[in-house]
Amino acid sequence: MADPVLEVRGLTRRFGAFTAVSDLSFEIQSGEIFGFLGPNGAGKSTTIRMLCGILAPSAGEARALGRDLFTEADHLRAQMGYMSQKSSLLTDLTVAENLNFFGGLYGLEGAGLRSEVEFRLREMQVWEHRDLLVSALSTGERQRVALASATLHRPRILFLDEPTSGVDPLRRRLFWEAMDELVTEGMSILVTTHNLGEADQCDRLAFILGGKLMAYGRPRSLKEALGRQVIELRTERFRELQAAARRHPEVLAAELLGRSVRLSLPGSLEPKPLLNQLQLEGFVFEALPAEQPSLEDLFVDLVQRSRVA
Ligand SMILES: Nc1ncnc2c1ncn2[C@@H]1O[C@H](COP(=O)(O)OP(=O)(O)O)[C@@H](O)[C@H]1O
Ligand SMILES: [Mg+2]
Repeated sequence: MADPVLEVRGLTRRFGAFTAVSDLSFEIQSGEIFGFLGPNGAGKSTTIRMLCGILAPSAGEARALGRDLFTEADHLRAQMGYMSQKSSLLTDLTVAENLNFFGGLYGLEGAGLRSEVEFRLREMQVWEHRDLLVSALSTGERQRVALASATLHRPRILFLDEPTSGVDPLRRRLFWEAMDELVTEGMSILVTTHNLGEADQCDRLAFILGGKLMAYGRPRSLKEALGRQVIELRTERFRELQAAARRHPEVLAAELLGRSVRLSLPGSLEPKPLLNQLQLEGFVFEALPAEQPSLEDLFVDLVQRSRVA
């Protein structure tokens, strides 16, 4: 793989006594979709805002495309695109007017601007809406217009902050197809999400929680490194069994899945005594072999470990 397009070392941001982002280090390789996953308040937006030059870091370093992100920001601006969590589109202008406006900020003009606007709007499948006011668009359409406007200047690195929040699964897929298209053009993307299905589609992921990096790697290897087992118990009385299982301290999580209870247990635990105990408590169930943990399991596990710590 080529050199990283973005290298972050020890990035930290404090607000008074509160540390929102704590000593984050990660790299984004050329041509990858890098997922930033974490619950609300984890520090995702704060990190992106520092990397886009909107917010000064309290500590840490970052290099992008071989330059220092914080001291040579002016040279990098034209190479970076940013779509903020709250859309920056002007809702009382039309789609085309918005793109012309943002294109102008990037220094595009005349025929070059016109052709770039048409190319992006067609690519994002919103060309037919070009004369509509942004306020008349659906959330999914608005987000694709915002993506078009963030990429008009053909940046090398694109930061997308929860670009698909509030979008239905079909439109979400459309958005991810558009992202794949941009990667094909040579962009590298950092995208934040708290949607685990989306996280699974990323080339690599960083999980953050309370401003700290909890796990980092390919979705597959993160799941394998989880070090825990998942057992599915099929039963008639799934709600009662869930409640009973949760009373056992060795049970990390007990979630309902259809008419089954998915038990997450430490990888080292011999599950027999626990299952026997649940049977003694009067439950009749069928225990199905452990399967590969999902990212959701990982997420629940990390959140729980952080509560214990
Ligand atoms: N300007 C600010 N002043 C004080 N606290 C802030 C500020 N911006 C963000 N925070 C806090 O930092 C934490 C991380 O926020 P944020 O980066 O927006 O999280 P995320 O995007 O992962 O939901 C939150 O607890 C938030 O309240
Ligand atoms: Mg955020």
